Amino acid sequence: MSILSFESRGKWGKSSWRGNCSGHVYKALFEQYQPKVFVDPMVGSGTSVEVAKEMGIEAYGLDLHGGFNILRDSILQSVGKQADMVFSHPPYHDMVVYSGQVWGNPHADDLSRCTSDEEFMEKLQVALLNQREATKSGGVYGLLIGDLRREGQYKSYQADCIARMPKSELSSVVIKAQHNCVSDLRQYAKMKHLRILHEYIVLWTKPKTTSVAMLSDLAMMARQQAQALKATWRAVVRHALITLGGKAKLDDIYARIASDAPEQLATNNNWVRREVV
Ligand SMILES: C[S@@+](CC[C@H](N)C(=O)[O-])C[C@H]1O[C@@H](n2cnc3c(N)ncnc32)[C@H](O)[C@@H]1O
Repeated sequence: MSILSFESRGKWGKSSWRGNCSGHVYKALFEQYQPKVFVDPMVGSGTSVEVAKEMGIEAYGLDLHGGFNILRDSILQSVGKQADMVFSHPPYHDMVVYSGQVWGNPHADDLSRCTSDEEFMEKLQVALLNQREATKSGGVYGLLIGDLRREGQYKSYQADCIARMPKSELSSVVIKAQHNCVSDLRQYAKMKHLRILHEYIVLWTKPKTTSVAMLSDLAMMARQQAQALKATWRAVVRHALITLGGKAKLDDIYARIASDAPEQLATNNNWVRREVV
């Protein structure tokens, strides 16, 4: 089933830990993937590890509140071995702030204290690469993440995660129904869009390569992303051509796009030629 919905969170973890996840979700994942070794590098109140241990799985929980920092410390070195499954439940940007509010003092590397979406996504990608490294070849890594809408803008962190990780490794996208969120208490009668009442579980499979190939894997990812960026600019140029009737001089294409994206031209005035030719 690619849709999970559990109204109760079960006996695992702490219900007082804001933004925690139902233990039944982890149970369903463990039943599906049968990991022998499991790691949660943002374990919060410990829900995942409690479920895992109860099921006889060797499990490790790490978190910033316990001194492990996913942006600076290697999961693999902290645990000492690769795992069959490395699954996290990060903050959804600043929806719930953890350090200084749920635990301890404010921490600069707390993922819930990023000041922009860009900063959050850049750091979340570092976290996912760290998880990937700690996963055995053929094992599964991934996360539970929600989207959010703010000032009318829909922010899809799961879509950004999928875009930033290797396409060839994406294995599963599961919808998880959200129950009992704080927003349930607010007034939604006049909302323009449907309320967000779901989160995503996104899973990737680590390919069967040696750890020596890790850096070349990452270089390949960077190349794929550069190609995607180039393809986007080709699409922009093609669209400009359509609006100009299908045929136009380079200067006219340039002027057409300049009117919509002046900042792009300010930084690189040779790009139309580069992308079209
Ligand atoms: C959504 S909570 C996890 C809740 C957990 N699934 C549970 O059921 O209790 C996110 C966790 O990420 C942790 N975190 C934030 N930034 C981190 C970082 N840089 N390194 C490790 N953990 C981090 C927070 O301390 C918080 O406990």
